[in-house]
Amino acid sequence: MKPVELEPGDERILAGEQGETRQKMLELLVALGTVFGARRLVPVHSVQVSGASYKTIGKYGLEWLEQLDARAVVPAVLNPIGMPRGRWQEMGVDPAFAEKQNAVITAYERLGIRLECTCTPYYLYPVHYGDHLAWSESSAVSYANSVIGARTNREGGPAALAAAIIGKTPCYGLHLAANRTPQLMVDVATGGRDFSIAHYGALGYLAGNRIGNRIPYFRNIRPDADGLKALGAAMAATGAVALYHVKGVTPEACKFHFDTSGLETIVIGREEIEQVFSRVSVDVVAVGCPHCSPGELKTTALLLSGKKVKIPFYIFAAQGVIDVNKNTVQSIEKSGARVYADTCMVVSPVMERYTAIMVNSGKALAYVPDMCGAVVRMGTLEECVAVATS
Ligand code: F3S
Repeated sequence: MKPVELEPGDERILAGEQGETRQKMLELLVALGTVFGARRLVPVHSVQVSGASYKTIGKYGLEWLEQLDARAVVPAVLNPIGMPRGRWQEMGVDPAFAEKQNAVITAYERLGIRLECTCTPYYLYPVHYGDHLAWSESSAVSYANSVIGARTNREGGPAALAAAIIGKTPCYGLHLAANRTPQLMVDVATGGRDFSIAHYGALGYLAGNRIGNRIPYFRNIRPDADGLKALGAAMAATGAVALYHVKGVTPEACKFHFDTSGLETIVIGREEIEQVFSRVSVDVVAVGCPHCSPGELKTTALLLSGKKVKIPFYIFAAQGVIDVNKNTVQSIEKSGARVYADTCMVVSPVMERYTAIMVNSGKALAYVPDMCGAVVRMGTLEECVAVATS
């Protein structure tokens, strides 16, 4: 194995001149780079750190965070947590859980991580084509790579935190152009009709299982940004897809002429996608996995206009998106639905009290049964609103 080339400043960090935490964090990045054959570390524009929910990191993760002593040197945000920071009592979160969750947040804040807890940091901070990032959450990684054309591997929580504290990440994998070309084709038989956002989630749910960790090149679909978000999130959940291309849509598919001759082709048809949608009765509806875009909030507000919800209806979005769409959020909440920030529906303990959850997300469809112990029903946003209000 060739060693990772370091800059003079890095040598001083490794010698412990800037404290033990920075030393250990750089050691971690160098070890990771060595394992994956990185020749150097690359500066990152931003970091998204996973391991934010107390439900996932637990007591030992919290203890590890609390003994670290350094500050992030690049913009860094957190993954969603198990509750809305400002409204956890209203959501019915157990105070004992809230106390632990707040301790995790405080530990990250002390490390200079911004307390935006979201899987959609791209709505809050500018990310550009070609930017190197160190992001953790799989749907955010997929969106950054595929929809924006930025470059990030899917970082584990400690590696992302190390990148935030050092400002660099090992340059391997999807940071290198040579590793971003398609590895199989996916032809989608749409039946000549457009897909809803949920249909793209269902397509991703099916496709991820067959793609695994390869880079797919989709043909015959024209998703907008929300459809791409749903597609990528689901593929990252049922497979391990961190980058995909869509012919004529995603930036690298438009910029480069990929040689796809000889690649395996899989076909996914509309009928198969429709079968992902079911009709079981549910006791809660949850949308915003990944967190809602401003456009998704506006569509939800329009669909709920003049209606009242009859069962709990949760909508999840980043706090920054909620803040700049206050009127839309107020309009949604007039119906009795609730728009909560910071929260991941599948790691929130609140969702464990329901027996059947309706979602419009292929990613939630994949995770809810195991993570929440509930039956899950897939529907379009229109169907979610209809079920919540009738
Ligand atoms: Fe986001 Fe949680 Fe879904 S992190 S993508 S809301 S599973």
